[in-house]
Amino acid sequence: MSAQAGRRAAGDGETRAANRAWWDAEADDYHAEHGAFLGDAGFVWGPEGWTEGELDLLAVRDGMTVLEIGAGGAQCSRWLADRYDVRVVASDLSRGMLRTAQRLDDDRVDAGGNGDGTASGPLPLLQCDGGALPLADSSVDRVFTAYGVIPFVADSAGVLREAARVLRPGGRFVFSTSHPVRWAFPDVPGREGLTARTSYFDRTPYVESEGGEVTYAEHHRTLGDLVRQVVAAGLALTDLVEPEWPERNRETWGGWSPLRGRLLPGTAILVCDLPR
Ligand SMILES: C[S@@+](CC[C@H](N)C(=O)[O-])C[C@H]1O[C@@H](n2cnc3c(N)ncnc32)[C@H](O)[C@@H]1O
Repeated sequence: MSAQAGRRAAGDGETRAANRAWWDAEADDYHAEHGAFLGDAGFVWGPEGWTEGELDLLAVRDGMTVLEIGAGGAQCSRWLADRYDVRVVASDLSRGMLRTAQRLDDDRVDAGGNGDGTASGPLPLLQCDGGALPLADSSVDRVFTAYGVIPFVADSAGVLREAARVLRPGGRFVFSTSHPVRWAFPDVPGREGLTARTSYFDRTPYVESEGGEVTYAEHHRTLGDLVRQVVAAGLALTDLVEPEWPERNRETWGGWSPLRGRLLPGTAILVCDLPR
């Protein structure tokens, strides 16, 4: 049977299994394509190129314990570990992505760190589902992900509940994801991507399948859905950042481009705090 791509239902289990296998297979290509933009020890929140150094959304400070979910090559965690005196664990569902993270760490050690004495040691890496964290309640100060987990699970409300569970009171969860409004437009970087073709309100996931079996799935929630999930998890929404496309960025990343970035939001970053 042939490969198919389009909008159709995909459940929790088949989404997880498909995306785990997909990211395992994609790991090398993802890093080859985006590694230079992301940096081996850089913290970029999305294709617009805004960094945590510029935005300070996580507000990490010395002495904190930090968990990254959907870490991929773990470049964000590495950036944090280089700058702060923190305990950072980088986690991901995909063994392939964590293998990339391990390789980046090994290469850095072989190259003698950052060369200026700022490099931290190898990162602790953890393979787990962002919706089922093997961590104790109230055990970390910060949880975050840049474009990991949230679009790739059927149950994003569960991921938010899990983040809230492991956070200490006063802790913070920050996640970036493609801006929900993008779902109304074709996912292409050029002019065709400027005309809405589907309903923003259609929550049917984008699914690729082979012989009827799901091989990749991305799930859509409106901004309102996300806000309600944050609140239902017991978190307070402190900020909703829609980063504007900066002049300096001439790069195209999939459907994200300077052309579309000038007109439409491409990324949503939600800053969520657990009340004390
Ligand atoms: C677009 S990549 C982003 C990786 C990294 N955060 C970055 O900025 O390069 C999405 C990541 O989410 C991970 N992921 C997908 N579903 C997941 C899940 N249920 N739990 C944990 N990680 C997941 C993938 O394996 C992949 O590494």
